[in-house]
Amino acid sequence: MSAPRHILDAGQFSPAWLHEELFPRADLMREIHALGDSRLLVGRRLFCLFYQPSTRTRISFESAMTLLGGTVSGIEVGAEERRQADEPIEDRVRVLCSYGYDALLIRFHEEGGAARAATASTVPVINAGDGEGQHPTQALLDAYTIRRELGRLDDFEIALVGDLTYERSVNSLAELLAKLPNVRLRFVSPATLRLRPAVRERLTDAGADFEELDDLDAVAASADVLYITRAHSDRMTLAQRFEPVRRSYVVDAEVLGRLKPTAIVLHPLPRGPELAMGLEADPRVAPFRQAENGLYVRMALLTLLLQPGGEPRANS
Ligand code: CP
Repeated sequence: MSAPRHILDAGQFSPAWLHEELFPRADLMREIHALGDSRLLVGRRLFCLFYQPSTRTRISFESAMTLLGGTVSGIEVGAEERRQADEPIEDRVRVLCSYGYDALLIRFHEEGGAARAATASTVPVINAGDGEGQHPTQALLDAYTIRRELGRLDDFEIALVGDLTYERSVNSLAELLAKLPNVRLRFVSPATLRLRPAVRERLTDAGADFEELDDLDAVAASADVLYITRAHSDRMTLAQRFEPVRRSYVVDAEVLGRLKPTAIVLHPLPRGPELAMGLEADPRVAPFRQAENGLYVRMALLTLLLQPGGEPRANS
């Protein structure tokens, strides 16, 4: 049996694989979905093991699998259950593999959970978010959305805004975009919620063009993409108390007014007060198109993972 092909972090995707394999296939999945459904994954079974709640990641994967003719089961392991002596994730994975699932979609409450699961799995493990670590399939749908909205996935400035210490979507997206030509990464947060050192180190090693700033105003007029993240409000409020100048990390009508007419605003969702309600009436505000793209990207990913020869290639 060949080794399972796990999806654990965004560092494993190459630009060539994105452009030649994933994105064209996601475009095809959009068409397939518009026409009805498909039988590409008939007889294949996905198990969803979730230690944290999810709407988009879980439901888009479940929809993707069933729209392709496969089947899905799953469980949620709640916080209460985790507090009691829960069984090791490795044991749970061994048992699931023995029941004949073809892939495991796992969201874990601590960084490294999916990698631990992968060590015990005989089938592909897909990281659906691991604590403050990575959210690789979110990065794939974000990159697909940027390419679709801007018409390119190179030569643009992206401002990633908010609580950047704890945001796994930013870690994954930054790492993925760092591999693409002339992408200028601007990280905007209070000083106490900057990128984690390990992420900064990976960006430096990759030769990324990046800057860390504390002011959204400094980038609003030049950004091609404004990627707003969830303000985990308690942490954000506390961090802002230590700011010498009161600054805002909220996108509202005033900030929209300063953006380029061609800029887009993305958010992995769910949103909080950092993205004012009602702004989605502006066509540049694209989080719901972004979330829909998640369905097509995950359909594409499942067919690539569960059909021979389609796995992500090493960096190129
Ligand atoms: N963006 C995202 O991961 O959303 P969920 O938590 O709903 O899966």
